[in-house]
Amino acid sequence: MEEKAKVFVAGATGFIGRRLVPALLERGFPVRCLSRRMTRALPEGTEILKGDLLQAQTLDGVLADVDTAYYLVHSMGEKGRFAEKERISAQNFAAAAQQAGVRRVIYLSGLGEGEETLSAHLSSRSKVADILQAAPFKTTTLRSGVILGEGGTSYEIIRFLVRTSIVLPTKDWLHARCQPLAVDDAIHYLVGCLENEQTAGRTFDIGGPEIMTYYDLMETFADEMKIPHLNAPVPFFMPKVLAGWIAMMTPVNAGVARALLEGVHLDVLCRDDSIRELLPFELTPCREAIRKALAERAARLKAGRSFSEA
Ligand SMILES: NC(=O)c1ccc[n+]([C@@H]2O[C@H](COP(=O)([O-])OP(=O)(O)OC[C@H]3O[C@@H](n4cnc5c(N)ncnc54)[C@H](OP(=O)(O)O)[C@@H]3O)[C@@H](O)[C@H]2O)c1
Repeated sequence: MEEKAKVFVAGATGFIGRRLVPALLERGFPVRCLSRRMTRALPEGTEILKGDLLQAQTLDGVLADVDTAYYLVHSMGEKGRFAEKERISAQNFAAAAQQAGVRRVIYLSGLGEGEETLSAHLSSRSKVADILQAAPFKTTTLRSGVILGEGGTSYEIIRFLVRTSIVLPTKDWLHARCQPLAVDDAIHYLVGCLENEQTAGRTFDIGGPEIMTYYDLMETFADEMKIPHLNAPVPFFMPKVLAGWIAMMTPVNAGVARALLEGVHLDVLCRDDSIRELLPFELTPCREAIRKALAERAARLKAGRSFSEA
């Protein structure tokens, strides 16, 4: 059998990376991962190199012999200004990939329009795309809104708000619309782009089959979690306070929660569905994605495993 070209994953220990790596191995790709800490388990058969994208000198040679590199990294929740860190990480990665002669990069970014209205988080995601797209390799940018899967930041925040059933922050939040994507479908797109050369060098929006308000999304969560009703919204909303509380009660870091909460009054919808022609498959309904994530959580708790071991 012909040997497949080597794939590199930056962000392999994260919510998306942890699911992408086994999917790539299953398709027969040799996989090399980058990690700062090397403490989280990655599947057998993965090559793991230690490196920090903020420290250019640690990236020497890590991308040698790599054909395609995934970029699944953000710095929300880290100490200091995250946008500056995300810019430096992307520049260091782009320089290392260029030097190693990487042919393609696949970047998972965030959905959102209009520089003036974008949250700091989404604006930074978009600047990372600009840095990668300016490099000589071909970058595929996939832009997604909420991704539904156990351990995902947006998913865990919503689950927490529904579970505590205490307040829903402000009306704007409730009426903003989203297009939640099942994490399995996000992985399907990420692998599909690698296997379809027509996606090289292009930007695509990826979203689930339904457009709904955040309120509808929370009601679906409540229904699946057997929570009888959601309480009325409060007229004030303090992202910092709420984020601190979320950090105490969930695995989501306060900085990450705050950065995401600051953008939730905006519609986050796909503007373009050209990816559906190149990679057609049946998308998972939102309710099914929530049900699966809740079942995964129940199985993990039953087995006494933490998120990082999941
Ligand atoms: N989760 C969602 O709902 C969602 C929705 C839309 C788009 N996305 C995008 O998907 C991508 C991945 O997100 P995620 O949810 O998987 O994030 P995550 O779970 O927080 O994982 C982030 C990853 O980045 C790595 N990382 C951070 N700083 C690094 C550095 N300086 N050097 C090397 N590695 C570094 C972390 O590795 P360590 O183990 O070293 O910390 C970790 O593996 C991001 O671009 C995000 O914007 C996510």
